Amino acid sequence: MKRFNPTAWARPSVLQLKPYSSARDEFAGTPDSLVFLDANENPFPTEYNRYPDPHQKQLKTIIAQQKGISTDQVLLGNGSDEVLDLLYRAFCVPGVDQVITMPPTYGMYQVLAQINDITCIEVPLNEDFSMNAPNVVGAITPKTKMVFVCSPNNPTGQLIEPKAVEFLLDSFEGIVVVDEAYIDFAQSPSWIQALNRYENLVICQTLSKAYGLASIRLGMLFAHPEIISLLKKIKPPYNINGLSQSVAEQRLLLTDQVTEEVAMICAQRNQLKVELSYISWVKEVFHSDANFLLVRVDDAGVRYRQLQDLGAVVRNRSGQMHCAETLRITVGTPQENMLLMEWMKNCS
Ligand SMILES: Cc1ncc(COP(=O)(O)O)c(C=O)c1O
Repeated sequence: MKRFNPTAWARPSVLQLKPYSSARDEFAGTPDSLVFLDANENPFPTEYNRYPDPHQKQLKTIIAQQKGISTDQVLLGNGSDEVLDLLYRAFCVPGVDQVITMPPTYGMYQVLAQINDITCIEVPLNEDFSMNAPNVVGAITPKTKMVFVCSPNNPTGQLIEPKAVEFLLDSFEGIVVVDEAYIDFAQSPSWIQALNRYENLVICQTLSKAYGLASIRLGMLFAHPEIISLLKKIKPPYNINGLSQSVAEQRLLLTDQVTEEVAMICAQRNQLKVELSYISWVKEVFHSDANFLLVRVDDAGVRYRQLQDLGAVVRNRSGQMHCAETLRITVGTPQENMLLMEWMKNCS
């Protein structure tokens, strides 16, 4: 068991602060027999006149049960972006501390570092998009508070090898954040299984991808209960609105439907990978464990504009490390993918 003492790593001002206590904190649930005159709400029912549960108990119970963990290991945010931001604010001192990211990767780690005035040390992935574990460990300094591992990675689509992540977890005393936004599309198990072995492990997942709920903004963070307690101190009291809580609950219970959609997306991804390789101007289609494909083409700027003119919006990732002349293409419905292939074949 790798121990982690959040108190020793937290931003000192966060340790000292007394969290805001919301009106609803004092009541578990909203029994019909109680008259609520505590939160200055409009008493006339609109379905939405009451503040939502700040602890999202019902939703967390479903999530914890499905993930095989306890509710005190779960923090929910307004998208993963909010839980990532909370991590910065809980553990990093502005103007002093550092984090490590591994480009090419999800851009928000760097943006959030800048917003929070934290130095972001970039340790590039190898050219085959694998993690350079010795370089990452070598870049750790006494000021390093967190290392971000995105697996499956965006924009490469590939899982980071478990051995490299394990090496990092063993070598680094601070927080290792494994962002699993795309894990439902991969064959490998989630790192959730390792939570009881590593107290310094934090896992982020989201309902924006496999669960088809990008619009409701529901991000999930799984970690040791003491890390969760610290993050709960600084989260906005009502950060998950009532509509999002109830839509998330309903969708999470439709497990068969979600599983079926994910299987269809993965099958479409594999088919698209083969079909793309027959396009004359496509040079390489990278392996993907996610719901998108990174594709190297002859001229990404030209192909991006051609596809846009035809009606297909993809992402040009050429500016990213090791990603020269690449497009990132999300897997659509079978009809959308067919249309894309027709358009691509017609681009000369
Ligand atoms: C790796 C990764 N993490 C997190 C997110 C953001 O997720 P959310 O919609 O939950 O904020 C994205 C979105 O594209 C992503 O690619």
